[in-house]
Amino acid sequence: MSRRTATELALHVDLSLGRRAGVEAALRDAIRDGRLRVGDPLPSTRSLAADLGVSRATVVAAYEQLAAEGYATGEVGSATRVAEVGAVAHSDDDPNPLAPELTHDFHPGRPDVSAFPRRDWQRAVRRIMNEAPDDVFGYPHPRGRPELRRALAGYLSRARSVVTDPSAISIVGGFVAALSFVGEHLARCGRRRIAVEDPMLFFHRDVLRQAGVECVPVPVDGDGLRVDLLDRLADSVDAVLVCPAHQYPIGATLPAERRTALVDWARRHDAWVVEDDYDGEFRYDRRPVGALQGLAPDRVIHVGTASKTLAPGLRLAWITAPASLRRGLIATINVRAGVSALEQLAFADLIEHGVLDRQVRILRPRYRERRDRLRARLDELGWIDTPDGAAGLNLCARFVGEAAAWSDRTIVAECAERSVSVIELSRHYAVPDGAPNGLVLGFGAPPEHAFDASLDTLIVTLEAVAARRRP
Ligand SMILES: Cc1ncc(COP(=O)(O)O)c(C=O)c1O
Repeated sequence: MSRRTATELALHVDLSLGRRAGVEAALRDAIRDGRLRVGDPLPSTRSLAADLGVSRATVVAAYEQLAAEGYATGEVGSATRVAEVGAVAHSDDDPNPLAPELTHDFHPGRPDVSAFPRRDWQRAVRRIMNEAPDDVFGYPHPRGRPELRRALAGYLSRARSVVTDPSAISIVGGFVAALSFVGEHLARCGRRRIAVEDPMLFFHRDVLRQAGVECVPVPVDGDGLRVDLLDRLADSVDAVLVCPAHQYPIGATLPAERRTALVDWARRHDAWVVEDDYDGEFRYDRRPVGALQGLAPDRVIHVGTASKTLAPGLRLAWITAPASLRRGLIATINVRAGVSALEQLAFADLIEHGVLDRQVRILRPRYRERRDRLRARLDELGWIDTPDGAAGLNLCARFVGEAAAWSDRTIVAECAERSVSVIELSRHYAVPDGAPNGLVLGFGAPPEHAFDASLDTLIVTLEAVAARRRP
C-alpha cells in the first residue's frame, strides 16, 4: 500500500486538543476505524505537516507518541507503519445514510463542521451551568426555551427581515421535523394538498407524504417557482412549500414580482406558504435577500435552521407561524419537539454573544471563494454548465452538449467508486426519468486544509468519467 495523504485518509485534526494531540487523535481514529490498517504506512511527516498546516516537528512528535502507545512501528530508514496491536477490527455499524463516509465530500447541503465554534459553545455551557435556574432540567415548554425564542426573534428580524416575536416561534429538531409537523397539522385540518417545487430536495417529498399530505409538483425555472402556474393547477392546493432565498437545487432567488404574486395567490385561495429559509444567510453578490415572510406574516410559515450556519448535528430549527395557526401547530408538536433545553440555551447564548453573526461573517467569504473555484474548474471541463446564483452552499451543474444524454445516476455511482460524493440532479425531479442530467455539488463540507486536494480529485474523476464515454 502506497502512502496516502491526509485528504485521502479524511483526517480531521481537532485543534482544540492542541496541535500535537490533535494530529495524534486524528491518526488514532483512522487506525481504530480501519481507514489505516495493519502494515499501512503513515503519510510522510513532511507531506502530512504541509497538508495539515502544522510543523514537521509536531508530526514527528505525534508519530513518536503513537509508536510509544503501540499504534505504530518505525524502523530506521523506513516508513512508520500501523502496528499489529493498534489496529482493531473494522466497525460493522450501519453506515449513516445521511452522511455517507466518502473521502471527497461534495455532497450538497453540508457546512464545514470543522469550523464549529467549539470554544464559544464550551463557554456557553459553562455559563449555563453556573447561572441557569433548576427548571432547565425539567420538561421544556413545547414551544422551546423562552431565552432561545427571544434571541431568535431578535436575530430573525435583524438578519432575515422576519416579522416575529418570541411567542410566534417554536423550536424543533431540524427543518425536517418542522416540515413533518407543519404537514401533519395541515393534514389534520383537512388541508391535504401541498404544491412543491419541481425539482426539490427529494426526501422532503417523503417527509410530507409520511405526514399525510399529497405533493403536487410545480415547475421551477431560472427565477424559481413558476408562481403563475399555481392558478392553473387542475385541482387547487392548500399550501405551497418554497425556498425563496435560494431555490434548492437550482439556486434561483425568487424575484420581487413572484413574491408579491405568491402572497396574492395565497390570500385569494386562503392557502399557506411554507418558506424553507435554510441558507438565506449565505449570499455572495449582494446583501442577503430578506425572507418572504416579512411581506405576509399572516400567510407565511417561516422555517429557519442552524444546520448551515452552525452544524446539522445540533438538529435545531425554528418555525414562525401566523397567529391563527400557532395553537394547532403546538398541539401537533407538543412533546415531540425533541431538542434538549440545554442545547437551546447554549444556542441562545451564542446568538446573544454575537457568535452566530460572527460565524456567518467568517464563513461567507470562505464559501464564496470555494464556490468560485469549484465553478471555474467545472466550467473548464466543457460539458458542465453552472448558473450564476451567488448564494448558498451548493452548485447545480447541468450536463450540456453530448453529455446531456449521460446518465447522472451512473456518473454519481462512478464518482462514489473513487470516493467522491456528489448527488445527481435528475433525482430531485418528481419524475427522474427524462429529467435533466447533472450534478448537485456542495462545496461546504471539506475542511479548509482539504478543499484544494478534494477539488483536484473531483475534477480528475469527472475527466475520467467523461473520457470513458467518449469514443
Ligand atoms: C432545501 C433544504 N432545506 C432545508 C435543509 C435543512 O434541513 P435540516 O434543518 O433538517 O438539517 C436543507 C439541508 O440540506 C436543505 O437542503
